[in-house]
Amino acid sequence: MDYVRLGNTGMTVSRICLGCMGFGGLKTGNFSWTLNYEKSKPIIDRAIDLGINFFDTADVYSDGKSEEILGRAIQGRRDELVIASKVYNPTGPLPNERGLSRRHVRQELKRSLGRLRTRYIDLYQTHRWDYETPIEETLRALDELVRSSLVNYIGASSMWAWQFAKALYKSDSLGLERFVSMQNHYNLCYREEELEMIPLCREEKIALLPWSPLARGFLTGKYGRGARPAGKRYSRDQLLRERYFRKEDFDVLEETGEVAKEKGATVAQVALAWLLHKGVTSPIVGVSSVSQLEELVESTSVNLSPHDLKRLEQPYRRRATEGHV
Ligand SMILES: NC(=O)c1ccc[n+]([C@@H]2O[C@H](COP(=O)([O-])OP(=O)(O)OC[C@H]3O[C@@H](n4cnc5c(N)ncnc54)[C@H](OP(=O)(O)O)[C@@H]3O)[C@@H](O)[C@H]2O)c1
Repeated sequence: MDYVRLGNTGMTVSRICLGCMGFGGLKTGNFSWTLNYEKSKPIIDRAIDLGINFFDTADVYSDGKSEEILGRAIQGRRDELVIASKVYNPTGPLPNERGLSRRHVRQELKRSLGRLRTRYIDLYQTHRWDYETPIEETLRALDELVRSSLVNYIGASSMWAWQFAKALYKSDSLGLERFVSMQNHYNLCYREEELEMIPLCREEKIALLPWSPLARGFLTGKYGRGARPAGKRYSRDQLLRERYFRKEDFDVLEETGEVAKEKGATVAQVALAWLLHKGVTSPIVGVSSVSQLEELVESTSVNLSPHDLKRLEQPYRRRATEGHV
């Protein structure tokens, strides 16, 4: 496994981060495609064996079950690992059970620490922009968590570039901890972030941690053009069905398949290798089995030439994006 600094910090993370959104085991609802503890534990163990030290979860994944599973599975090894979690999305029906107010941030951090069975979170991220709470309030609350040793670094997830620039400017001008990472939607089938957010992150030495780097499984080649898609995640993950499967996405997929054939690699490995060649710090991958994970880890040794990169990028067509997906 290769390791890299997390942006402009002194902390080192593996070049592959294991996303834990697929751990939960809920029977119904948006997370009913996720794995229970018994099926998640061998994946987490194997990730550590393979040298992965970086794990990403969130308070809302499977109503907190993802954090619980991760916390239980890494008992005794926690201090070897870099644990990232998130706050923002609603955790209950009450008005203060959501957003990035000082109150909710403090409350959720406490709950996340409990579920993760840890004294600290390495990277605490805001899941989305809160239009109703002044960013100064959120930044002061996060700064306080770092000063209290409950959090080592703070990061952000999907938002507009102007919002991120504003947050960085506010932290600097108020002398507060600044965001060190951006967790955003970036893969061969979704490249809108190349317009504004990624150049900003490069300029500010912000770590790039793309989510859904395999387009929720679409960029593995398991779904063919014209074929009737099957699989538990396809049938239960609405966002997978809605976000990809355009004609242009299949064009990208087929070109990725061609490059993969020539490299003696798999489609998923080439899709991840492309991100690793684009200055990404650590793609946050999801897997539903140990063998999938073993395949993905090999992507760090797939070399792509400038010509390969051009071929992979050529079929992409810009999307009309109304909001952050
Ligand atoms: N910040 C945010 O807003 C946000 C949003 C989404 C995700 N995330 C983070 O990003 C992580 C990854 O998201 P994701 O699960 O959508 O990522 P992904 O890596 O794009 O897709 C993962 C899916 O790809 C399939 N897959 C993976 N390796 C495979 C292989 N070798 N062969 C065949 N299929 C393979 C699996 O599908 P099957 O289940 O069909 O086997 C798996 O569920 C999450 O766990 C979470 O930590 C963050």
